[in-house]
Amino acid sequence: METDNKQICVLGMGYVGLTLSVVLAEVGYQVNGIDIDKEVIDTLNKGNPHFHEKNLAMRLMQQVKNNRVQFFTKAQDIYYDSIIISVGTPLKEGTKEPNLSYLRQVIKEVAKLIQKGTLVCMRSTIPVGCVRADILPVLESESGLRVGTDFHLASTPERTVEGKALQELRENSQIVGGITELCTERAANLFLKLTSTVVTVSSVEVAEFSKIVDNTFRDLKFSFANEMALISEKIGLDIHEVINAANVHYPRNSIPVPSPGVGGACLSKDPHILIDLAKRYNHHSRLISEARSINESYPGLIVKRIQKKFTDLGGELDQAKVMVVGFAFKGNPETADLRDSTTITLVNELRSLAKCLIKGFDPIVQKSEIQLIEGVQAVELEGGFDKIDILIVANNHETYRDWDISMILSNMNRPAIIYDAWRMLDKNIVEEHENVVYMSPGL
Ligand SMILES: NC(=O)c1ccc[n+]([C@@H]2O[C@H](COP(=O)([O-])OP(=O)(O)OC[C@H]3O[C@@H](n4cnc5c(N)ncnc54)[C@H](O)[C@@H]3O)[C@@H](O)[C@H]2O)c1
Repeated sequence: METDNKQICVLGMGYVGLTLSVVLAEVGYQVNGIDIDKEVIDTLNKGNPHFHEKNLAMRLMQQVKNNRVQFFTKAQDIYYDSIIISVGTPLKEGTKEPNLSYLRQVIKEVAKLIQKGTLVCMRSTIPVGCVRADILPVLESESGLRVGTDFHLASTPERTVEGKALQELRENSQIVGGITELCTERAANLFLKLTSTVVTVSSVEVAEFSKIVDNTFRDLKFSFANEMALISEKIGLDIHEVINAANVHYPRNSIPVPSPGVGGACLSKDPHILIDLAKRYNHHSRLISEARSINESYPGLIVKRIQKKFTDLGGELDQAKVMVVGFAFKGNPETADLRDSTTITLVNELRSLAKCLIKGFDPIVQKSEIQLIEGVQAVELEGGFDKIDILIVANNHETYRDWDISMILSNMNRPAIIYDAWRMLDKNIVEEHENVVYMSPGL
């Protein structure tokens, strides 16, 4: 492969920064990955990723061996052609406003690194206006350099999906918006090495906004499906049958299936960034707030439904043994990411309602990590179903489809409930068994 000895510095070695660093190294750049977490850096320099992502371990090891990527706790005192910022931008607890403290810290470091010709790309998800109002003034005043002439600054938001990031970095379109036309051009050229579709937009703000519009739309779509599920439950119709009928061979809609809420660090956060942003512009966004609230309340509604059904069947939730499978915030594409997992909310809601025993398993998340979740006893799949009263399948890992449901049910107590949040199991087989109730969102 043609190599390009240009040095790139990526700040923040989380899901976004690490996957991007590996792909940049693969296309021939010389990459320095920086993170303030020394343990993370030590692990990465041994060629081992600190989170699960398909094919990442093998591809990272290759680039570490090739010396195309190196990891440090501090950027080196060298000329970087491009600097990419991918630190976390979480929400403040309580107020749910964006917490830009990591960003503010990293910007001061970037200001020390930029030299004539450097391109700075903002990859983290941020409120609209942040690059121009918060980042640019610090970079200019602390470096003494001018944007557009001395250095370049652009918004290049990350839009890959966890679990398929390495693939999507090469296949998805990349939105690029710079402070000046030259900034846009520089950033577009960088990303054209990764993907053939770079969408250049007229301003940095358009790029910033498009990212949060994207994720907010997804959250809205899922909240619609979840609300339809709630209505379906009341009417007594199966929402999957309804949605399938509405979608099949019909070009105008593509309604998603309901889910046990919407988790993950992005979809649960970005709509709140937009809600907060709209507020600053004196707009109260009812739709986005309602969508979030439907999705956030969903795990609690699931638990209440299970409690009612179990009581109707003559059971007592306080005495029940419950097995919860699927703790990662999603099963497909698979990840071990527990951030904002709706399963954890579901478990907390369950614990607040009853003193039941909760066993837990996930095909990807380590047993030791599940053991750290309060109130959950981590178990293996084998033996995990024995003598349980309630099974909750909480995410959509494909391996659940291979389960021998009859065998599982033969080990469960009666009455039994199977709550299948993603319809991974065969309802007909479950219903062949006596004294077992199959439940799901919208059924
Ligand atoms: N995870 C995703 O799939 C995804 C997708 C699209 C966008 N995003 C956005 O990208 C950003 C990063 O997300 P993430 O999931 O990778 O976050 P993360 O929390 O996994 O990683 C952030 C990393 O930044 C490091 N960091 C903090 N301050 C630093 C500093 N001053 N210098 C160097 N490193 C520093 C932290 O130690 C951490 O390892 C967020 O804004 C997120 O909303 C994430």
